[in-house]
Amino acid sequence: MDRFGSIITAAGLGCFAFAFVLSSLYPWMITGGSKPETNIAVLAQDVSPEFRDLKARWPVAFDAAYPQGVDALTMQQLVGVSPDDARRGRSEAAWEASYAQALRDGRDSYISEGCWHCHSQYVRPVSNEDQRWGPVSVWEQDNNSLQRPMLWGTRRVGPDLTYEGGLRSNDWHAAHFWRPSEVSPGSVMPRYPWFFREGWQVRRRIDPEIAERTGLSGDTSYALPGVYDSQAEAEAALQSTRDSLPNSLAAESERLFVEQGKGLNHRGLSMLAYIQWLGTWMPEPEPEAES
Ligand code: HEC
Repeated sequence: MDRFGSIITAAGLGCFAFAFVLSSLYPWMITGGSKPETNIAVLAQDVSPEFRDLKARWPVAFDAAYPQGVDALTMQQLVGVSPDDARRGRSEAAWEASYAQALRDGRDSYISEGCWHCHSQYVRPVSNEDQRWGPVSVWEQDNNSLQRPMLWGTRRVGPDLTYEGGLRSNDWHAAHFWRPSEVSPGSVMPRYPWFFREGWQVRRRIDPEIAERTGLSGDTSYALPGVYDSQAEAEAALQSTRDSLPNSLAAESERLFVEQGKGLNHRGLSMLAYIQWLGTWMPEPEPEAES
C-alpha cells in the first residue's frame, strides 16, 4: 500500500511539473521565439461594442472604475458629434486606455476568482467540440500577453469560453453573475454577488396599457441606466430626466421614481469587458513572402 501511495504521489507531482513546464514553454514553442506576442495596448485598439455599452448602462460605476475614460463619449453622446472628432480624437484615446485597463483587471479577476477551474479556453479537435464551441483553437489566438499565463483551464465543468465574446448581451451576463440559475436553470455555477454594488436608481413603471396587454402587473418597472451612490444623486438624476421630457410626455414623468438598486462594480465591469473580448482577437496574417 505504501508503495502504491508513493507511485500516486510521484505521478501527481509529475503531472503538475509537466503542466508547469508546458505552460512556460508553450509561448516560446508556438512561435519558435520569432514572433513577438501582441501586447495589451495593441489589443485595446479595437474597443468592443460591448465595452462601450457598459458605459451607457452603468455610467456612474464606469467612470469611477476607469477615470481615464471619463472623456470617452457614450454611443448616445456620439450622435451629432462629427465622426472624425468622436472616433479618432480625444474620445477614442480615452476609450482605448480604459479598455486596456479593463481587460487587464478582468483577466486578473478571472484568475483570482478561479473561473479557470470550471471553464476551459481551448477547443480541442476531439469529441465534436468544434460543433459546440466553435473552430478548433490555433496557436495564433494565444500569442498575446492577455494569455500569459495560458488559461486553458483544468476541468470542463462549464462550457468552453474561447469564443464567448459577443455571444450574449451584457445584461445577460450581469443577471448570470448575480444568480446563474435564474437565466440558466439547474446551473451549478456559483453566484458572484461581490461583482455588484448597492446604490440608488431611477426606475420607470411601464405604461398601464402595455401592462394590461402583456399580462404584466401594473407595478412592473425597469431601471434606467445609472446606479448612484446616494438617494440625493438619484433624485437629481430623476429631476433632470423629468426636465428633459417634452410636455406631451407629462404623464411619463409620473411613472418615474427612485428606489434602491444594484449595479455592476469595478470587478463586475472588468470581468464583463474580458469575457466579451474572448475569441474576438486574431493577429493579422503575415503577408506572403515573395519568392
Ligand atoms: C463550479 C464551476 C464554475 C465556476 C467556478 C464558474 N463557472 Fe461559469 N459556468 C459553469 C457552468 C456549469 C455553466 C453552464 C450553466 C450556466 O450557464 O450557468 C457556466 C456558464 C458560464 C457562462 C455562460 C457560457 C455560455 O455562453 O453559455 C459564462 C460566461 C461563465 N460561466 C463565466 C464564468 C466566470 C467569469 C466565472 C468566474 C467568475 C465562472 N464562470 C465560474 C460553471 C462554473
